[in-house]
Amino acid sequence: MPTNSQSAHLPFGENKNAEWYGKDIISVKQFSRKDLEYIFGVAHEMRGMVERVGTFDLLKGKILANLFYEPSTRTSSSFTAAMERLGGSVIPINEVKYSSVSKGESLPDTIRTLECYADVIVLRHPETGSAAIAAKAAKKPVINAGDGVGEHPTQALLDIFTIYEELGAGQVDGMTVTMLGDLKYGRTVHSLTRLLSMFTNIKLNYVSPEILKMPKEVMDEIAEKNIPQAEFNTLEKVLPETDVLYVTRVQKERFEDPADYENVKGAYVIDPEIMKSAKKEMIVMHPLPRVGEISTDFDDDPRAAYFRQMEYGLYVRMALLAMVLGKA
Ligand code: NCD
Repeated sequence: MPTNSQSAHLPFGENKNAEWYGKDIISVKQFSRKDLEYIFGVAHEMRGMVERVGTFDLLKGKILANLFYEPSTRTSSSFTAAMERLGGSVIPINEVKYSSVSKGESLPDTIRTLECYADVIVLRHPETGSAAIAAKAAKKPVINAGDGVGEHPTQALLDIFTIYEELGAGQVDGMTVTMLGDLKYGRTVHSLTRLLSMFTNIKLNYVSPEILKMPKEVMDEIAEKNIPQAEFNTLEKVLPETDVLYVTRVQKERFEDPADYENVKGAYVIDPEIMKSAKKEMIVMHPLPRVGEISTDFDDDPRAAYFRQMEYGLYVRMALLAMVLGKA
């Protein structure tokens, strides 16, 4: 059990004038490099606190509404765990079909309802732009937990935090990051690419089937920053130079034509054989769930960082909740 003296060691005070107090987290475009260092600093502290005391009272009495219009295991449960480890509580709405959404309630009305009861709202929704609509309707902070094929900012933050913690702080500069799989519909790679573009000497490789290429809009943003980026159909050529291999699932639910999905599913499979040509000091990441694109035979390889990546997500989400509630 946490004690007052343990939580008194925290470097965070309650501060309604804090920079992040009451802010929404909608897109990675809102962050500066300085913000990232701050968030990862707080997340690192959170990691230490969880390892030392497990649960503590930083957000005691605060309530999170966890509103998910799309399936989720990791994002939903890590936000719940984050809130509860900070001593707060959660209103879970995972099955919107049992809520008034099924009666035709609009997103802004649902958001206005939940903010009567909660201090912060986490939203996952199938439509791009929905998080911004919700944030406009709400006075309380809204955190985007994935808006369709748009963005997934908290995932991208935890992805970069994973690279920091796994490959050494500050080590994102100078790295070659290869993204593999469904780069068209995968919102995690849209956010991650944008965040990576804040670092120096970064090189980005995109490996995907022809119909699942990184959207032009995202590539144009990266090109404006003069960051080298290149597209490929196969992994072989770029794997040996890769420091971070970011594997994604083909997003079956977002295809208009199921035949297209059938043609590209299983296009790439990471296994111990293919990984022989990769560096010894590199990591393989995946936002998960995986549906065959990383063989379970690779799971015991020290470079397989995808299970550890989930745990880093807890610390980043703890940091974000504390920040928007004025406690960090
Ligand atoms: C991702 C998502 O929902 O975008 N999952 C997650 O949040 N960890 C990736 C996916 O569904 O493929």
